[in-house]
Amino acid sequence: MCGIVGYVGPGSAIGMLLGGLKRQEYRGYDSAGIAVIDDAGELETRKRAGKLGVLLGDLDGDSMPDGHTGIGHTRWATHGGPSDANAHPHLGDGGRLALIHNGIIENFAELKQEVLDAGGVFTSETDSEVAALLVGSLYRETGNLTDAMRRVVTRLEGAFTLLVMHQDEPGVVVGARRNSPLVVGVGDGENFLGSDVAAFVEHTRHALEIGQDQIVTIRPGSVEVIDFSGAPVTPHAFEVAWDASAAEKGGWPSFMKKEISEEPEAVAKTLIGRIHDGAVTLPELEPLAEVLDDIDRVVVIGCGTAAYAGMLGKYAIETWARVPVDVELSHEFRYRDPVLSPRTLVVSVSQSGETMDTLMAVKYAREHGARTLAICNTQGSTIPRESDAVLYTHAGPEVAVASTKAFVAQATALYLLGLYLAQRRGTLDGAQIAAQLAELQDLPDKLDQVVDAASARIAELAHWMGDTQSVLFLGRHVGYPIALEGALKLKELAYIHAEGFAAGELKHGPIALIEPGQIVFVIVPSPRDPSSLHPKVVSNIQEIRARGARVIAIAEIGDVAVVPYADEVIRIPFAAPLFEPLLAVVPLHIFGMELAMAKGLDVDQPRNLAKSVTVE
Ligand code: M6R
Repeated sequence: MCGIVGYVGPGSAIGMLLGGLKRQEYRGYDSAGIAVIDDAGELETRKRAGKLGVLLGDLDGDSMPDGHTGIGHTRWATHGGPSDANAHPHLGDGGRLALIHNGIIENFAELKQEVLDAGGVFTSETDSEVAALLVGSLYRETGNLTDAMRRVVTRLEGAFTLLVMHQDEPGVVVGARRNSPLVVGVGDGENFLGSDVAAFVEHTRHALEIGQDQIVTIRPGSVEVIDFSGAPVTPHAFEVAWDASAAEKGGWPSFMKKEISEEPEAVAKTLIGRIHDGAVTLPELEPLAEVLDDIDRVVVIGCGTAAYAGMLGKYAIETWARVPVDVELSHEFRYRDPVLSPRTLVVSVSQSGETMDTLMAVKYAREHGARTLAICNTQGSTIPRESDAVLYTHAGPEVAVASTKAFVAQATALYLLGLYLAQRRGTLDGAQIAAQLAELQDLPDKLDQVVDAASARIAELAHWMGDTQSVLFLGRHVGYPIALEGALKLKELAYIHAEGFAAGELKHGPIALIEPGQIVFVIVPSPRDPSSLHPKVVSNIQEIRARGARVIAIAEIGDVAVVPYADEVIRIPFAAPLFEPLLAVVPLHIFGMELAMAKGLDVDQPRNLAKSVTVE
C-alpha cells in the first residue's frame, strides 16, 4: 500500500530517497515524506499531503539540509486521512528519531493508551506514531536502535514494515517486517531498503529477501539480519531480473499506455524457456513433483484482475487436464472454512506478490494441508516465499495501478500449468499438447496486431463517449472473465458505473438495465469453431439491440454474421477458443485508459487506489 525506502552510504540521502519514492509512487500517493540525518548530525524531516509532486515542489521552493542516512515514504491512508500531520515520517524521542510504516497496527489503541499514560504526546491520527514513540522511549533506555526496534515489534499485532533511524546513530537504518514487504538492495559501500526492488534498482540489482518476523540493520558496509527473538538469520540473495529503464516511462505519456503496448512481450517472456520440442518444461514445479499427479482438485485464488485471470485458467485446466478447478476471491476463500486436503493444489495469482488477502489465503491453505503454487510477477515478494513453489510471470515491472500486461502474463502461466498437468496426467497426447503450445506461441504476434489495429478506433470511440454514465460488458465462456475485466478497468480508471455479465444470464435479470442508448460491449466468440457459442451470442446481441442498446462487438476478423447487429465492430485475429480472450481483452484495456483520458483523469494513479493492497 505504502512505498518505503531507506538509504545509508556516501550518496545524497535526499536524492536517493526521492528517486526511490518516484519509482514506488504507484504503491500509494496521498502523501509523501522524507527524513535525513544531515551533515551537522541533526534529524530533518519534510512531509506533505498530496502526490509526491507536492513534496518535490515544496523541496524545490525551500530546500532542506542533505545527509547520507535517510528514510522516505509514500502513503496510502488507512488510519487518519491524508494530511501533512498524518504523512510519514513520525517522530519519537523528542524529535531525534524518525519512523515510517507500511501496514496496520491492529492493537494500536491499547498501545496508544499506554504511551499516553506515560506522558507521550501524539501529533497525528495514525496508528504508526505509536511505534515511533515506543521505539523512541526504548532507545532512550538502551541506546541500541536494533534492540529497541526488536522489543517494540514483538508487541505489535497486525501487518507492518517499519523503518527507523536516530540522529545519535547516523549511518544506520533499521527495518522490520511482518506480513508486509521489505527487501534490501546491496550496493558497493551503500545499502538500501525498499518495499520492492524498484526502490533501488537504479543503483544496484543485488538484493536480499527479508523474511517474515525479521529485523534488518543496514550500515554503509554491512547488512545484518536477525529474527524477532534476536537470533541471526542468513537472508536469501537474488539478482533483480530487470533494470531501472524497465520501470521508467521511456517516452510514453503514461505507464498504462506503455504497459498495454508491452502485453505481447509479457506473454512472449512468460513462455521463454518453458517450451521444448512441443512439450512444456516447468522445473520450478519440482518441489510439487510428488503431489502433482495425485491432486484431485485445484483452487485458484486471487483478487481483482488476478482473479479474472484465474477464471480463464479454470476453463483451460479443466479442458486440458480434466481436473476440477474452483476459482475464488482470496478474501472469501480465507474466511469460509473451505474443504482442503493434501490432494488440493491451491494456485495463487498475484502480480505484486504482496496482496494481503491472497497472502493470508495462501497461509491458510498451507496450514490446512493443501499444497500451494504461486503465480507471481514480482521477485523477492512475500507470496512466493510462503508457497511450496512459484511460477514467475515475466511481464516486467507493472507500475500503473490498473493491471494490464500482468493479466495476459498470468493467463499464459495458468495455460502453461494446464498443459503441464495434462502432459503429466496423460489427458492430452503429444500432438494435442504441441498444437495448444503453438497457439500460445502465436499469441504475441496476434497481440501486436490488436494493439496496432485497435488503438486509434478505440480512442475515437472513447472520446465520443466522454459523458457516458454506464457501460455494460457481455461475454460467454472465456469471454465472461473478459467482460468482468473490461468492467473493472472502466470503474477503476474512468470512475463510471460498469458491469460485466455472463451473456447467458441476461434474461435472468440484467436485461432490465437495457434502455435506449445503453452502451454494451460484447465479446463475440469465433464462428469458425464448431462448438462455438457464436450463434447464442449473436442472439444475445439481437435481444439487447431490440431494446435500444448501442452494441460494440469485439469479434474475429472475417466474422460478417455480427455486422448487421453491431453499431461498431472491433476486430481481433482468429485464435482457438481458449486463446481468444487474451486478444479480446486488449481493446478493453485500451478503452478503459482512453475513456479515463477523455475525462481528463490520471490513468496511472486512479483515486483511492494503490497498486499493491498490503492491508486486509
Ligand atoms: O498484485 P495483485 O495481482 O495481487 O493485485 C490484485 C488486485 O488488487 C489487482 O489486480 C487490482 O484489481 C487491479 N487494480 C486491477 O486493475
